[in-house]
Amino acid sequence: MEVKTSLLDNMIGVGDMVLLEPLSEDSFLGNLKKRFDHSEIYTYIGSVVISMNPYRSLPIYTPEKVEEYRNRNFYELSPHIYALADEAYRSLRDQDKDQCILITGESGAGKTEASKLVMSYVAAVCGKGHEVNKVKEQLLQSNPVLEAFGNAKTVRNDNSSRFGKYMDIEFDFKGDPLGGVISNYLLEKSRVVKQPRGERNFHVFYQLLSGASDDTLRKLKLDRDFSKYNYLSLDSAVVSGLDDAANFRTVRNAMQIVGFMEDEVQSVLELVAAVLKLGNIEFKPESRCNGTDESRVKDKNDLKEMCELLGMEQSVLERAFSYRTVEAKMEKVSTTLNVAQAYYARDALAKNLYSRLFSWLVTRINESIQAQTKARHKVMGVLDIYGFEIFENGDNSFEQFIINYCNEKLQQIFIELTLREEQEEYVREGIEWTNIEYFNNAIICDLIENNQNGILAMLDEECLRPGTVTDETFLDKLNTICADHQHFESRLNKNSKFLNDHSLPHNCFRIQHYAGKVLYRVEGFVDKNNDLLYRDLSQAMYKANHSLIKQLFPEGNPAKVNLKRPPTAGFQFRASVGTLMRNLQTKNPNYIRCIKPNDKKASHIFTDSLVRHQVRYLGLMENVRVRRAGYAFRQPYEPCLERYKMLCKRTWPHWKGPAREGVEVLMADLQIPAEEISYGRSKIFIRNPRTLFFLEEKRKQCLQDLATLIQKIYRGWKCRTHFLLMKKSQIVVAAWYRRYAQQKTYRNIKSATTVVQSYTRGWQARKLLRELKYQKRCEEAVTTIAAFWHGTQARRELRRLKEEARRKHAVALIWAYWQGLKVRREYRKFFRANAGKKIYDFTIQRIIQKYFLGLKSSMPSMSPIDRKWPARPYGFLDGVHTELRKIFHHWRCKKYRDQFTEEKKAVYEEKLEASEIFKDKKALYPSSVSQPFKGDYLEISKNPKYQKLNSAVDEKVLLADVVNKINRANGKGTPRIFLLTKKNFVLADQKTGQVKASIPLPDVTSMSVSTQKDGFFALKLKEGSASAVKGDFLLSSEHLIEIITKLHRIGATAADREKLKVDISDEFLVQFKQDKVCVKFIQSSPKNGNSVSCKRKNNRLLEVSVPTSP
Ligand SMILES: Nc1ncnc2c1ncn2[C@@H]1O[C@H](COP(=O)(O)OP(=O)(O)OP(=O)(O)O)[C@@H](O)[C@H]1O
Ligand SMILES: [Mg+2]
Repeated sequence: MEVKTSLLDNMIGVGDMVLLEPLSEDSFLGNLKKRFDHSEIYTYIGSVVISMNPYRSLPIYTPEKVEEYRNRNFYELSPHIYALADEAYRSLRDQDKDQCILITGESGAGKTEASKLVMSYVAAVCGKGHEVNKVKEQLLQSNPVLEAFGNAKTVRNDNSSRFGKYMDIEFDFKGDPLGGVISNYLLEKSRVVKQPRGERNFHVFYQLLSGASDDTLRKLKLDRDFSKYNYLSLDSAVVSGLDDAANFRTVRNAMQIVGFMEDEVQSVLELVAAVLKLGNIEFKPESRCNGTDESRVKDKNDLKEMCELLGMEQSVLERAFSYRTVEAKMEKVSTTLNVAQAYYARDALAKNLYSRLFSWLVTRINESIQAQTKARHKVMGVLDIYGFEIFENGDNSFEQFIINYCNEKLQQIFIELTLREEQEEYVREGIEWTNIEYFNNAIICDLIENNQNGILAMLDEECLRPGTVTDETFLDKLNTICADHQHFESRLNKNSKFLNDHSLPHNCFRIQHYAGKVLYRVEGFVDKNNDLLYRDLSQAMYKANHSLIKQLFPEGNPAKVNLKRPPTAGFQFRASVGTLMRNLQTKNPNYIRCIKPNDKKASHIFTDSLVRHQVRYLGLMENVRVRRAGYAFRQPYEPCLERYKMLCKRTWPHWKGPAREGVEVLMADLQIPAEEISYGRSKIFIRNPRTLFFLEEKRKQCLQDLATLIQKIYRGWKCRTHFLLMKKSQIVVAAWYRRYAQQKTYRNIKSATTVVQSYTRGWQARKLLRELKYQKRCEEAVTTIAAFWHGTQARRELRRLKEEARRKHAVALIWAYWQGLKVRREYRKFFRANAGKKIYDFTIQRIIQKYFLGLKSSMPSMSPIDRKWPARPYGFLDGVHTELRKIFHHWRCKKYRDQFTEEKKAVYEEKLEASEIFKDKKALYPSSVSQPFKGDYLEISKNPKYQKLNSAVDEKVLLADVVNKINRANGKGTPRIFLLTKKNFVLADQKTGQVKASIPLPDVTSMSVSTQKDGFFALKLKEGSASAVKGDFLLSSEHLIEIITKLHRIGATAADREKLKVDISDEFLVQFKQDKVCVKFIQSSPKNGNSVSCKRKNNRLLEVSVPTSP
């Protein structure tokens, strides 16, 4: 819930001076001081805000503070500038009233700061959005730009506004900012060329030189050193707490945000640089022949650089500084300028250049920030004008006069609206009222601005008058015309009142302003008012090849030569102030009265006299008195009734009678005390703001109740409509749902029925199946039983029949035997001797016949190696059967042999013989069976190598092979060719074929071989024969079986000789010459080598070791 607060809560001193008791100047100041000491810089006089400059930053401008004051009643929280800004903004937004915020106070009192605070507050609370934010940002960023060019350090204020500024911020009906318009008032341009002691030129010069990059400065032909420029005073060039370089960056950034193009910024900086250069141009006198002095530019370098910067021709400008052309009635007269005039012309050009640049900047900013729509808009004007200014040493000039005139006018409008207007209204409305005396400064305004005899009119008159016009003539005029005015003082006044007043020099006049007396030095008034710029200079400027300069000096255009004098500065200013005042009068004013606590720009110092002076001239006491005597609030009856009629049942919702009566009824109903209200002719007056707040509070509550009622009815209607719709929908939904539910139930029942049905059918079917199966099984059982029964019966019958048949057979057999016996008994007497033998023979015959027939049909094949033979059928044919098998085999073999050719036959015969000799006798034999006996292994007849050998043998060679002849000395073998013919065998050298021995076969008596697998054989020779001289031969051959068989065969076939004997034994004797050597064969294990080895053991023993076969 919102906590209701009031400015009365936790108050330091009194927040609203209207409540001050007792009210006196001292208590007023005491209250201000007390609050100032507690950092409470804002105090109210009713709706006027008094702002004391704290000269330090206070933590009261945070976003939280903005939120705190947002949409709160003016008197609800402790006094703050935000409360005023909020009030103004809300009445602009909600009540459609244009507003103006008038900020007054002397120089350094904090007007500019206050205006920025108001703007930033409004920016913070008004609408948001991309476009709106851009507008806000542009409006806020226009400040740094204008401050850089229009503000300067003065003795009173380090950031003193040297121009007047009025800014209209435009809002749409929602309160969102649309744009703005800035009006500027008379820039203090004399500052460009000269500054009072302790003061500076405009900020921008210092900012440019400190903050611009080296590159930029080079382009602008500038030097960073301030001392290089005549126009920059040096004594306060650097201000503590002012960072010119950083501010330069801020300004450039602000220009970019506001919408300046890069080339525009560059042009602006070029102009600023040109002003600095201009100040450095110096002149020297040059005497002419006619005796007059003429000025010449001393050092042309600066002139040259400036002309380069502005794209001007140097000679044109140089000439403009030396000559002046006066045109009158189609006549042109050119006069030379002396040095003083040249300096005057230079400074006039600098001032004009700068002030026109400033006005161009304002116009350019306006172009950027102006509202984009033509729609009707509301306006909030913020006026921040230079403050009332007095130089204590009397050095006040035309500028101060103008500034102070402007402040007089503002004071006037304040008086108009707050004091006079208020009192007049009471009188008008017929309200009882005791008049309050106050000082009305209209008389001072009149002294200055009166069209006939006002000071400004005098000045203009003097400026326009032909003849010699000087500041002195102007003062003389004043002395005559204004002599009687009570606020005008002069030494040479007609009424010699001030003749002896030494505080009033002769060349000065003094005006008693509302804020105090100001002594004006008359020197320069005429000049400054004339604001003359020689036409030669403006024409020279127009010729510049620089777009911005051309725009600034339109009067320099030769095509538009205007011989009429331009309006004077004073005239222009008076006119613009007049417009401003008229503008302000159309708006609802909101006042901020700024007060400067001390002259030292120091925080925490409250100079009593200074503040007292300001309180006096600002008329604050009178302001409080009027407030206290009068009524805080007034309003015509109609809008009042319209606003509060809901607070009373009789006036709500419609009051039929006159509005005033309605308001009376309303107030009576609310029991507002009579002293709180006065009824005027057309308005009701409410004395105390609290009564107003009471009404507002009541209204707010009532509005809430009304809103609740409307809300209630609307919600009721909405809910009912919604309900009806829901009901209708519900019925539709329910109908659909029921249909769906019924369909679902039906489908469920249907499917359940189908299930039950199928179960039942299934059950019935299974039952039937079971029955059928049972029936079938019964039938099958019956069949089986019947089958078994029939089987049993059949078997029984069979058995019986078999038994019967056996019996019958036995009977028949017995019968037959018996018959046979009987027959034999009977016939024995006839065939007793050979009947049995005959029968036997017959039977045997029959059996043998049958045997042969059977054998014939089951004879084996004709292959000699087929071992099959039918089984023997009868035991008694055993011998015959074996014999027949043999016979058949022999016969079969014969048949087989009959197919042989002679050669094949001889081969098989040899093989047969080998078998006879060696089978089961020598282990080598089985391996030779499969080897065919080739005979001539060396192909001796064909091989030319053995041709000689072949010719040495006259018989046919039966066998030719290489054998090893065993040396009896060591048992080693020597290869020899072994040839066998029918008559002899020959041993020849294997390589040469030379015959080593030729032994006739008849000399060979026997052959010895071992029983083992070796190929050793000995050929034993007939003792005493010629061949036997060298002894027997011990040879070894791979074809041992063949050689021995062939030798044996030749021996067998030779009719004249005995058969060659073959000894097979593992030990035999061999005759070597005289000695008999025993050759012994032993078996050795295969691991000793696979070959047969022969070793001589001793003189009589040769041992042949034969590896056993694996
Ligand atoms: N509310 C404030 N809080 C802190 N400092 C302030 C405040 N108001 C003013 N000042 C200080 O006082 C100085 C002067 O204020 P400001 O420039 O607003 O005076 P001014 O009334 O505009 O003077 P002039 O008439 O010369 O322009 C500011 O530079 C600032 O340092
Ligand atoms: Mg200011």
